[in-house]
Amino acid sequence: MRNIFLVGFMGAGKSSVGAALAARLGHRFIDLDERLRERFEASIPEVFAVHGEDVFRAAETDELARCADEQGTVVATGGGTFCIGANREIISKSKGVSVYLDLPWEELDRRLAADNSGRPKYDRAEQARSLLEERQPEYRHADVVIALEGSERPDEVAELVLELLREGTPCAI
Ligand code: S3P
Repeated sequence: MRNIFLVGFMGAGKSSVGAALAARLGHRFIDLDERLRERFEASIPEVFAVHGEDVFRAAETDELARCADEQGTVVATGGGTFCIGANREIISKSKGVSVYLDLPWEELDRRLAADNSGRPKYDRAEQARSLLEERQPEYRHADVVIALEGSERPDEVAELVLELLREGTPCAI
């Protein structure tokens, strides 16, 4: 059973869609950020503040590799995970399927403005927008790209993901 890795920007709904998708498939759900919080016994902002981003990224790659070794899981990655080539390689080598939840900036902005706590990579809207633009080409390396409006419920997005995976045609909708 191939693992599914949800990728995309902060606020895209990777964790809520991932949990809904895992429930539908009867797969185990793994939240990569949660794994990192457990590993460091600290919040993500604390990890960034105390150890720095490089240490966070190294641990992220290590935890991702552990996830890739498992079977039948749905993994919600962090917003930066898929933007690192070595991480994309871990996913593809493990025959995992990557799914990019592609939301319009306006919707991401709305969500992040409402709650950006716990997100050390979020500074202010303009900075987040240029980070998204910088990262978008990396996210588009995903096997499946799902263009969303942002009004869809997590279970509806999970259903869309399933339809695309069943069709077996990695494509954008
Ligand atoms: C990050 C996104 C976060 C978390 C960390 C770094 C990023 O995950 O991994 O704060 O670089 O965009 P979410 O996308 O779940 O917020």
